[in-house]
Amino acid sequence: MAESKPRRPSSVIIAPELPAPPAALNRRLSLQFTPSSPTFKRTSWVEIDDDFEDEKHALERSGTQAYQNRGQRGEEKVVRTLCDEHRLAQLKSIKVEGPISETPPESSAPEKAPSLWRTIRAIYPSIPYKPVFFLGIAVSLLSGAMTPVFSFLLSRLLFEVSTGARDVSTINMFGGIVLGIAAADGLFMGLKFFIMETLAMSWVTRIRKSCLGLVLSQDKKWFDKTDNSSVRLMNVLIKDGDDARSLIATVIAQCMVVTAMLSVGLIWALVRGWQYTLVGLAIAPVFVITMAVQTNLVAKAEYRNKRAREEVAKTYYDVVSNIRGIRSMGFENVFQLQFEKTVGDALRTGVRGAFVEGCTYGVASSLIYLAEALLFYVGAVLIAKGIYTYLQMIETLQLIVFTVTLGSQLMSFTNRIAKSVNATNDFNRLLQLSPETDESRGLLRPAIEGGVALQNVAFSYPERSNVPVLKDVSLSVAEGECVAIVGASGSGKSTIAALLQRLYEPHVGSITLGSSDVRSIDVSHLREHVAVVSQNPNLFDASVRDNIAYGATALSDDEVRQAALAANVDEFINTLPKGYDTMVGENASLISGGQAQRISIARALARPSKVLILDECTSALDPANQAVVIETIRSAKVGRTTLMVTHKLPLMQMCDRILVVEDGVIVEDGPYETLMQRNGAFSRLASAGEWFGQ
Ligand SMILES: Nc1ncnc2c1ncn2[C@@H]1O[C@H](COP(=O)(O)OP(=O)(O)OP(=O)(O)O)[C@@H](O)[C@H]1O
Ligand SMILES: [Mg+2]
Repeated sequence: MAESKPRRPSSVIIAPELPAPPAALNRRLSLQFTPSSPTFKRTSWVEIDDDFEDEKHALERSGTQAYQNRGQRGEEKVVRTLCDEHRLAQLKSIKVEGPISETPPESSAPEKAPSLWRTIRAIYPSIPYKPVFFLGIAVSLLSGAMTPVFSFLLSRLLFEVSTGARDVSTINMFGGIVLGIAAADGLFMGLKFFIMETLAMSWVTRIRKSCLGLVLSQDKKWFDKTDNSSVRLMNVLIKDGDDARSLIATVIAQCMVVTAMLSVGLIWALVRGWQYTLVGLAIAPVFVITMAVQTNLVAKAEYRNKRAREEVAKTYYDVVSNIRGIRSMGFENVFQLQFEKTVGDALRTGVRGAFVEGCTYGVASSLIYLAEALLFYVGAVLIAKGIYTYLQMIETLQLIVFTVTLGSQLMSFTNRIAKSVNATNDFNRLLQLSPETDESRGLLRPAIEGGVALQNVAFSYPERSNVPVLKDVSLSVAEGECVAIVGASGSGKSTIAALLQRLYEPHVGSITLGSSDVRSIDVSHLREHVAVVSQNPNLFDASVRDNIAYGATALSDDEVRQAALAANVDEFINTLPKGYDTMVGENASLISGGQAQRISIARALARPSKVLILDECTSALDPANQAVVIETIRSAKVGRTTLMVTHKLPLMQMCDRILVVEDGVIVEDGPYETLMQRNGAFSRLASAGEWFGQ
């Protein structure tokens, strides 16, 4: 029945790809995304039936209630600047999977552009193959030194030709040396590119690996911070990784080239004609000040640009990952407005940055021509007064002009410096994460059996430490018992489930599994033995078999099939085009919400778990799918200690006991019938229309 009716696509987690900027724009302070808005069609492709609509409205009601509860509890009301306030109020009441944060992410962040030198010092320890790095630096310095040598030889050639090309052998000699220098320059350039690019790639690969490891080892509370939203992390790991690479591959290498070019060129020029060179150097402070102002302004503009681009990426991510909710609620306009606002902000920031960049480059370029004109004038005066010969003047002039012009042209990649420095700093922030997290504590791997108990547990989320979610919760569930945890939306049911998995740790009180405190148990061991099925099936872009066996690589095909049989989904899997080998990502539309949920129940059953936590695992399903999943749960709970967070009366009736959470404590505890007769919190909630009979 349910199998024959393919419905909504199930939630399949596929890392969204961030659109890469066009290659041509890479060099500029450009927007990562074009400011064109996505087109939303008004027609819905989602098949929505009345049951689903009813349940959706009920969820909206309960969500609105939770929102109001929060308000009553004195939490800070957060102001969100969106044009459509009415629709936004509705928006807050739905549960969306994406990271819609209630605080504007970067508004409080100080707008301070990090410096190049500090960044290089910070990343230096992580650079691999230090001798190769120094070889690359040496080759870059040599490559930079070639320019003054070339300009000097060229001036000699010019001089010989200007005197009527009488000394052919000298001209040939200098011509030959110029050719040799050109070849050496080519060799050094190629070598510099190869060494620094290879080194940069291995550095980025190495730190990407460490970053991912460090990110994955962080506590759940770390991911709750706005700075660590999934879209921000993806930006850092994917895009910033590439931008950071150019710090070593281009920025450090070019800085070395410029340093060698300027120092060799200027020292040589001083030796050939110090008075003339000093005139040239007298203009240097103007250059240095212009350069410093330019670097600073461009760096600040790039810093703001990067944050604006991240906001655009975040809005894209919100829209794409919540497309189903957006469609079914008709929130296209709200998101379109939000998108247009972020894109508009990014465009304004980008235009401001381009203006700053344009002005500073314009001033810097005109200064170069002014300096050249001044030097020609002073050279002519020196020759006229007989202080310099023509040869001396042209040699010194060539050295200064070549060196300074090429040097400042190479320095014109300041936006690249700013970009790579910003990216590297964000990247490095991840690298500095400590692996010493709350989760890293606890090494015991006891046999997990027996019941579950919470003793006087008090907890508030680190991001809202002033709002107590659980005040004093004590409960115990005997081995093999099935207990429902119920309560109004926002009362802390999922929080209890999260504490049991040690996603957070309580501030007060203790949680025990069998005879062990969960804090003393190794987290991976704990999570292997505490199976969780949540509201979202969380299927991954892999085959059905892998989705069931995920993490438990030792599972045989037969064990996977047994789990699927127990979860009542084997028959359906066999109807898929490639059975257990069907890729879930490609065939998401073939799998209904209920089927996806049963696959995730199979995943839970395939593990050696004696404790099963079901957190509203039927709430996103239509009645037909719900009925099948409820039957699946009925058999899955046998022989397991089961905690069921639910809004469904049939599921509550299936449990041995029901615990009612209200205002951070357990206010009622007993079997369904007893609680219904008691006329207490449970019967009040049951009659308030918050729960569903189906
Ligand atoms: N990661 C978090 N950071 C801060 N506050 C949170 C976080 N998760 C939940 N909360 C808050 O904690 C309270 C309890 O949330 P919880 O998810 O446990 O409620 P619930 O009883 O499961 O509700 P529902 O029935 O709607 O799922 C709510 O006020 C919620 O806003
Ligand atoms: Mg919940």
